[in-house]
Amino acid sequence: MACNLNTVFLPHRISACGREPVSSKTQGFCLPSSPADGGASLAWSALSHDSVLATSGSLHLSTTITRKSPTQTLIVTEERKSTTAGKFGRYGGKFVPETLMLCLSQLEAELKVVLHDEEFQAELATALKDYVGRETPLYLAQRITNHYKNSMGEGPEIYLKREDLNHCGAHKMNNAIAQAMLAKRIGRKSIVAATGAGQHGVATAAACAKLALECTIYMGRMDMERQSSNVTFMNLLGAEVRSVDGSFKDATSEAIRHWVNNLDSSYHLAGAPVGPHPCPAMVREFQSVIGKETRKQAMEKWGGKPDVLVACVGSGSNALGLFHEFVRDEDVRLIGVEAAGVGLESGKHSATLATGEVGVYQGAMSYLLQDEEGQIIGPHSVAVGLEYPGVSPELSFLKDIGRAEFYTVTDQEAIDAYRRVSQLEGIIPAMEASHAIAFLEKLCPTLPDGARVVVSCSGRGDKDAEMVLEHI
Ligand SMILES: Cc1ncc(COP(=O)(O)O)c(C=O)c1O
Repeated sequence: MACNLNTVFLPHRISACGREPVSSKTQGFCLPSSPADGGASLAWSALSHDSVLATSGSLHLSTTITRKSPTQTLIVTEERKSTTAGKFGRYGGKFVPETLMLCLSQLEAELKVVLHDEEFQAELATALKDYVGRETPLYLAQRITNHYKNSMGEGPEIYLKREDLNHCGAHKMNNAIAQAMLAKRIGRKSIVAATGAGQHGVATAAACAKLALECTIYMGRMDMERQSSNVTFMNLLGAEVRSVDGSFKDATSEAIRHWVNNLDSSYHLAGAPVGPHPCPAMVREFQSVIGKETRKQAMEKWGGKPDVLVACVGSGSNALGLFHEFVRDEDVRLIGVEAAGVGLESGKHSATLATGEVGVYQGAMSYLLQDEEGQIIGPHSVAVGLEYPGVSPELSFLKDIGRAEFYTVTDQEAIDAYRRVSQLEGIIPAMEASHAIAFLEKLCPTLPDGARVVVSCSGRGDKDAEMVLEHI
C-alpha cells in the first residue's frame, strides 16, 4: 500500500461536557478522522457509571472495575475471545486518518498472534535473557533504607528494580527488542523511531543492528545536545540520527510522518505506551516483564508481595511495566511520579496527570498539557525522558478510577536524589528514575515500619552526569 500523505496526528482539546473535540487546528496537515473504532461516545459515558470496561490485562483479558467507594475498587477479570477496541475507560482509541487504519489493524492482528506464538515467545525469552541480560535484580538498597529510618530505627525497606542493568542501560530495551523482532516477522526492512533522552533511540539502534534492520532515529535538536553521549552511541550502532527543530513531541511527529510516507517498508517502533491502538497495549505488554519478575523475586525474597510500587512517569512505559502485574492486587499501592520541573505554578513542568486536561494527541485520548485553545504546552523537565505533553491512556484511566496515585517532584529534588543514591549505594540512576527515588523523601515518613517499597530504577545516569555536575 503506497501512501504519500503528509499526515500527522493533531491535538484536540475535549470540552468538559462534550463528546467531540472542540478545536482542531490544521497546522498545514490533513485532519485526522473521527475515532475509527466508533468507541468514543461509549468511552465518554463510561465514567459516569459505576462500572467501566478497560482493555487491561493481556489483549485477551477485559477488566471490569467497579467503584465501591472513592478509595476502594473491586476488580474482576474475565477472558474474552474477541479483540478489544484499545480503550481504557474513555482513554486510548485510534484517532487516525483512514490511511493508517489498515496498517494498525495488521499490526494488531500480528501482535495477537505473536503474544501466543510459542516460537516467537521462546525467541523473545532467549533475547531477553542472553541479549538484554534479564532478569534484572530486585536490589535491597540497605543504605537508602537506613537513611529513611526514624529515631526509633523504624522505616520501610527500599528495593530498587534494576532496569539500569539492562543492555544499553534502561528499560527501553525490553520493548525495543520485542518490537524489532515483530517488525522483522512482518517483513519490514527499516525501522523509524523518535527519542527524547536517547535511551529508546539507543535501544532501538542496538536491536536493529542485531536483527540487520535499517534504523532512522528522530531527536529534538536541544535533546541531542543535552544527551550527546546517546547520540554518539546511536551513530556507532549504525543508526542515522536526524535532528528536528523542537523536542521529543516534535521528533515523534516527524518519525510518524516518515513512517506514513513509507508504510510498505518501514515500521514505527514506539517507545512509549501512547499513540493509537494497539501501541499503548503493545508497549505495556512488552514492558510487563518488569512487574512479572518483581512478583516472583518478592516471593523468593520475603514470601509476599511488595506493599508499594513507585515509578517515574514520562509517557508511562516503565510505570506500567512495573504496575501492570499488580493492578488487580488491591493491597499493593501504585505510585507514579511526574516531573514538576521548576515548580507546578511556574508552568515549566511535565506534570500531565497532575495538571493536564483530557484531549486527543498523536492518535489517542489521554490527559494532555494544553492551553485554552487546545494547543500543546511545551513540557519541561531536567530529565529529558520525562518531557512529553501527553501520557499513557492506561495511566489516565488508572488515575480516574483511583487505582494509581500520582505525585510530582521538582528538578532540584530529582538532582538531590541522583546524588544521594550515587553516594549511598554506588548506583548512578538516570535523571528520570531519580524522580521516582526522590519521592521517597515524602513517602517514607508516612509508611509503617517494614513496609516493602519497590522503586523502578528505570535507567542508568551516566548520560546526566555532566548536567548534574554543572548544577553543583
Ligand atoms: C531511563 C528512563 N526512564 C524513564 C523514562 C520515561 O519514559 P517512560 O515514562 O515511558 O518510562 C525514560 C524516557 O526516555 C528513560 O530514558
